[in-house]
Order: sequence, then structure tokens, then C-alpha cells
Amino acid sequence: MSLAGKRVLLVVAGGIAAFKALELVRLLRREGCGVTAVLTAGGAQFVTALSLQALTEARVYSDLFSLTDESEMGHIQLSRAADLVVVAPASADILAKMAAGLADDLASTLLLATDKRVLVAPAMNVRMWQHPATVANMATLAARGVAVVGPDEGAMACNEFGPGRLAEPPAILAAIASMLAPPVRPLAGRHVLVTSGPTHEPIDPVRYLANRSSGRQGHAIAAALGALGARVTLVSGPVAIPDPPGVEVRHVETAVGMLAACDAALPADAAVCAAAVADWRVADAAAQKLKKTPGAAPPALTLVANPDILATLAAPGPRRPRLVVGFAAETNDLERHAADKRRRKGCDWIVANDVSEAGGVMGGGENEVHLLTEAGIEHWPRAAKEEVARLLAQRIAVALA
Ligand SMILES: Cc1cc2nc3c(=O)[nH]c(=O)nc-3n(C[C@H](O)[C@H](O)[C@H](O)COP(=O)(O)O)c2cc1C
Repeated sequence: MSLAGKRVLLVVAGGIAAFKALELVRLLRREGCGVTAVLTAGGAQFVTALSLQALTEARVYSDLFSLTDESEMGHIQLSRAADLVVVAPASADILAKMAAGLADDLASTLLLATDKRVLVAPAMNVRMWQHPATVANMATLAARGVAVVGPDEGAMACNEFGPGRLAEPPAILAAIASMLAPPVRPLAGRHVLVTSGPTHEPIDPVRYLANRSSGRQGHAIAAALGALGARVTLVSGPVAIPDPPGVEVRHVETAVGMLAACDAALPADAAVCAAAVADWRVADAAAQKLKKTPGAAPPALTLVANPDILATLAAPGPRRPRLVVGFAAETNDLERHAADKRRRKGCDWIVANDVSEAGGVMGGGENEVHLLTEAGIEHWPRAAKEEVARLLAQRIAVALA
């Protein structure tokens, strides 16, 4: 790990773990990394500016309204000189300010003004960490691309036990080093098409047929491919999650709309069909809302087959992507159905997952998948959907190399 010549802007917030920020500074300096420290009013209750100044060998900032700092617009300048902003320890308070966009002291103002990547190392009492307010704040920050290290689980200063301990300084150092390492971009110059989410098939202007897909796995795959340097077109059905950053997104409603958007996105080097496309649509969707007439029988819905997007993309021809990956969502006989699907659709790989209710995959944060390729079947351990996405993106990079 070489951090020589790099600069970290370290915000030290108010918490019992603030003393560990001193050890973090020592480790960073040992790696040749420059550190400028910003101490919040809370942080100054736990460590002194003098200790931070001695270890960083630089001036420590804490005042937003200092005339000398602000003649140079310190709150804007500070992070301009940095490669990364690190908040360690990150108190519940500063995380809430970041999520809400508050800017009432130097630390929160520079965190709002910065265009640099931000890493937070939360540390707080277990109940503060598990409070719905903190959980929601962390989700907001994660969706905005703020990176997180820890917290660890263990005994706490408040005589309680659970998650909330500051990650150990060497783990924070490793997270900093990986964020400052030059990105590995094996998919640079490649275009990958990803489909995600459910489709909504109208019955009438207000009702539709749908399924429980959340789009989390497909969106994570799009983000992971983008992180490896691919140009990604994500064709998404209606989902309640944000567009992944750095990805071109086409929003569609129906299977027919999804196929048209996929077709328009070609050519592509690879296609990953993670969307849960409805197999059928209503033959004659009503143009007006269907009315309930007292005494009359309920309307009968006649279904017709939707286009098969995976089979269409995988069909031989000049526009076929070199690698076509399908998903198989099965509730029983997973491997047999997935192998059948791979043969029937003509795709190269199938990512099979068990979507029976017990697995909690549809809408959940984790997935346990099996990868079927021409070489056989691999069972991957249960992991966060982001991790499954990262592994799949790496495999795609190897296949396209
Ligand atoms: C003894 C003591 C320990 C504290 N430890 C923590 C802590 O570990 N994490 C935390 O989020 N807040 C902790 N707090 C509360 C914060 O210090 C308080 O919310 C403060 O306003 C945070 O300010 P800042 O985020 O601007 O630094 C502690 C308070 C006291 C008095």
C-alpha cells in the first residue's frame, strides 16, 4: 500500500472513539499520506487540537467563521486540496447533518461543499446505530455514494454490546488505501446492456399485472459493471430504488417497451437480463377504467405471451452480444429448470436464484445464486446483492477480455 503524496482531509467528530483518530493519523503519516484535520465542537470535547496538530504536523481547523480562514474561503478550499474526505469517528449527529444537507459548522459545511469522495467510519452506542433515523440516514448517504467502513460489533464504552464500535484504525486505513488506489477498469471501452426490475402490464389505465422484483440485483449489476469501466445501459422497469450513478438509464413500463429499449441500445458486448419480465400481458387492455357493475360477473382477463427478451437478444445474428447472461428465478427444481432455460433461450450463462418465499430474495438485500455456464454449475455463497453483482461483473470482465 502506498499513500505517498496523497492527502486526506480528516473530520474528527464527537464521540468516545475520537482518540482512535489519533492512531489513524499516525498510520496515515507512516504511509506518507498528508493529513489535514478538522475538529468539530463535539470532537474537541474528546481530543485536543494540539494532539491532532502534533501528529498531522499541520494546522487543525475547527472554526467556520474564522476571519483568517474565511478570507481564503476555508470551507471550500480545504477539501479541494484533498484526495479524499474521511469522517472518523462519524457521530450520529454528523451523519444526520450530512443526510439532511445541514451546514451549521465547519465540518458539515465542508462536507456539503466538497466534490471529493467521502468515507465515513461511524461510531456510536448500539441503539443510536440501530435507531430508524440513523438507519435511514445511512441509506441516504449510501445511495449518494458515500463509502462506509464499520462499525464493528463488540463491547462498548457504555457497557453495552452490539454494532457501533469504530472500525479499528488499520481497517480504516485499508479502506482509505482502496479508495485512493487507481481504479481497475478491465471493461473500459465495452458496452454492456442490463435489464432490471419488474414490468407492469396494464389491465386498464389504473390497474396492472406485476411481480415482486425490486430491481436491486439488476441495478447492483449495472453499478458493478460501471465501476469496472464499462459503458452501461440499464433498461429498468418500474422500481422504487434510485438510478445507479454513472449509468445510462432507460425507464420502461412493459415487456414490449423493454424489448424496444434493449433493441435501441444495441450493439453491446454483453447483455445481462436480470429483469423479471412478465411472461404474459392482457390481450386487450381497456382504454378506460373498468367499472364494477353490481350483479355483473368480474371481467375475464385474456392473456397473450409477451416477447421473450432474453431469447431475442441471444438469438444468433450480427447484433447478438458476445456474452448473453440470463437470470432464472425459480421456486423449485432450481438447477434443472435453470439448465433447461439456458438451452431453450440460447444464452451463454444463467444466474439461477431461488425466489421461493423462504429465501427472501425478491425485494431482499441478499442473494444466493448458482452460475450455469458451458463448463457446468457453480454454487456461490449467500451474499449481499452488491457482492454478487461485483463477482458477476468480474466474471464478465474475464469473459470479454
Ligand atoms: C461522554 C459522551 C460520549 C459520546 N459518545 C458518542 C459516540 O460515540 N457517538 C456519537 O455519535 N455521539 C456520542 N456522543 C454525543 C455527541 O458527542 C453529540 O451528539 C455531539 O453533538 C456530536 O457533535 P459532532 O457530531 O458535531 O461532533 C457522546 C456524548 C458524550 C457526552
